[in-house]
Amino acid sequence: MTPLFLTLAPLRGFTNALYRNLYSAHFQGIDTAISPFINTLSVKQINRSHIKDILPENNHGMPVVPQIIGNDPAGFIQLATIFHDLGFDTVNWNLGCPAPMVANKRRGSGMLPHPELIKAFLDDVMPRIPIRLSIKTRIGREKKEEIFKLLPIFNQYPIAELIIHPRTGVQMYGGEVDLATFAECLPILKIPVTYNGDILDYDSFIRLKERFKTVSRWLIGRGVLANPFLPGILRSGGESIAQPVARFKQFHDDLFEAYRAELSGQSHLVDKMKSYWLYFFRSFENGEALFKKIKKINALKKYEEIVGKFLEEDAIWRPGHQ
Ligand SMILES: Cc1cc2nc3c(=O)[nH]c(=O)nc-3n(C[C@H](O)[C@H](O)[C@H](O)COP(=O)(O)O)c2cc1C
Repeated sequence: MTPLFLTLAPLRGFTNALYRNLYSAHFQGIDTAISPFINTLSVKQINRSHIKDILPENNHGMPVVPQIIGNDPAGFIQLATIFHDLGFDTVNWNLGCPAPMVANKRRGSGMLPHPELIKAFLDDVMPRIPIRLSIKTRIGREKKEEIFKLLPIFNQYPIAELIIHPRTGVQMYGGEVDLATFAECLPILKIPVTYNGDILDYDSFIRLKERFKTVSRWLIGRGVLANPFLPGILRSGGESIAQPVARFKQFHDDLFEAYRAELSGQSHLVDKMKSYWLYFFRSFENGEALFKKIKKINALKKYEEIVGKFLEEDAIWRPGHQ
């Protein structure tokens, strides 16, 4: 059997150091995480607050690969060198971000229609960074065909890992993942490949694993946010979890307290917790009704009352049903 290597996906605003540390304290199954992206900067001195999410003193759980977004080689080399000096052995380059503000500036997925820029970037950067490079990409910005011009370029460099999320940038996070295109990429690539996209439960994972027998590396984002037990379940072969609601509640309460300590102002705390419920609610049979109520909350006391009662009395754990 191929060993599983499970990576927690970068989700900006969600899988930051605070979340990753608590995740490691409560759950099992993740081998490493990629940090949400950090921008290259055109300044001589990088401020520690810019990279605080990956600073070793702020990370106490799973190993982390810092992710950089940007298209300027000098800025990239500068950050990658700082990360190396901090003790990291790999950095990840973001070629997937679909946000128009980013992509319109030829960053993230906005670089994918320009293979010549990607090649020039790698020619410049690869010999100058003292650290391994992994890349996270989509299959194109506008069209899936874009990836086929890029694969021969990636193959020319000693890239540690290519993570493919088989959607185009314009698809954002919706629509189907294009598994046929992902399958076509596999025989072309000479570098290790990681699959990413819509691993939401044990069954969806098994279908992918059976279809892509040579793949052993998987990156999971929203599936873990919704059901933090998922990596453990994938490893155990689908075992059910004892007392999931009570364990989830402990995690939720710790997350709430950690954000309470970090954020200033009750409304920031309420907004942050509400944003997590966009994913959490999916793991409860009666989650949809709760989420409707949560969306209307605008006071901390109300949040504590509604979510507290739900998790103590009403919650029925049923992940993967929506
Ligand atoms: C809210 C949100 C924030 C994200 N932030 C990042 C990011 O900072 N860097 C990145 O490479 N991908 C980012 N992604 C994409 C995810 O890492 C992942 O590729 C995508 O969600 C598909 O995987 P999943 O279906 O397992 O979630 C983000 C996705 C979401 C929904």
